[in-house]
Amino acid sequence: MNADALYLDLKHKLGDVMPEAELILKAEVAAEVLRLKEERNAVILGHNYMEPALFHTVPDFQGDSLELSRRAAETDKPYIVFCGVRFMAETAKILNPSKTVLLPTEKGGCSLAESITAADVRALRAAYPGVPIVTYINTYADVKAECDICCTSSNAVAVVESLKTDTVIFLPDEYLAKNVARETGLHVIVPKVLPKAGSAASGTDVEHTMIAWKGRCEVHELFTPEDIDSVRKQFPDVMILAHPECSPEVVAKADFSGSTTAMIKAVEKSKAKRYLLLTECSMGDNIVAAHPEKEMLRLCSHRCPHMGEITLEQTRDSLKYLRWVIDVPEDIRVRALRSVERMLAVGPKVD
Ligand code: 13P
Ligand code: SF4
Repeated sequence: MNADALYLDLKHKLGDVMPEAELILKAEVAAEVLRLKEERNAVILGHNYMEPALFHTVPDFQGDSLELSRRAAETDKPYIVFCGVRFMAETAKILNPSKTVLLPTEKGGCSLAESITAADVRALRAAYPGVPIVTYINTYADVKAECDICCTSSNAVAVVESLKTDTVIFLPDEYLAKNVARETGLHVIVPKVLPKAGSAASGTDVEHTMIAWKGRCEVHELFTPEDIDSVRKQFPDVMILAHPECSPEVVAKADFSGSTTAMIKAVEKSKAKRYLLLTECSMGDNIVAAHPEKEMLRLCSHRCPHMGEITLEQTRDSLKYLRWVIDVPEDIRVRALRSVERMLAVGPKVD
């Protein structure tokens, strides 16, 4: 698509929210990205949290963490440009090591990924010997390498159930752990001090228990049950959707909870008049751009600062200068791959 066609498409989708000068500029940058993508024979994966001008123009595939991991595993293109954060790009590298994986920002952090280290996981394994360890995909490769299986927000319950155990360690998101525990009937503990390795407590006191960690998503922890009460009072017909990284109190008051893609599909299917999304705010913009007939309420602007680092301009420079290349040491990659592949075997599949 050339810049004129991209401009018309962006105007149609974002004309109400983006000034004319920006529409023209973004269309030109998007055209450059598409040209470089073809030149490099690259695939671009775009997470649902990408800014609207990027999300609606350059990705070959859009989706949540699970969908994009599957796309990364399947591609035969030599370059994978991951428009998401670092742990997602690392997962692409773990799954497809012969490809060059590019992250359009040098940092691209995540408060959950930064909340736990490989040494923490080793200490947990020593404290609770024999207890399987599930890690949320929002962790770095060295942490995945120490765990038994990964999960994402779209398959966390299925992954825990697949273990057929009544005790599980679930890392590092305390709120996701609590939300999954509620659905799987487990009792959650977040140990302040780990039991000594090999002590009786580790083996006996944890039946029907999910042992969680104290990580939080800095975006989703900002939503409160009071926010929901206040919006429902003003708009009784609103449908409220919350990502499972929100607190269990928030999720309990919402009408729907699921991964980013599950929330998009729920809005698309629903006949409700208005929606409130309790998640990163660009996703609401992306839904409105694709479905202008859906009324999206704005509670506040909780933008993930890490996802916000990735723009169309950064994506263009990533392809132009082949930066920033994601590498995972081979010994770590091989062990992390086991955890990721076990998760992919649980499902669900994407079409
Ligand atoms: P999803 O897997 O639901 O896309 O979530 C990723 C994430 O980081 C949400 O904050
Ligand atoms: Fe991490 Fe939260 Fe940002 Fe998702 S929204 S990438 S969990 S900080």
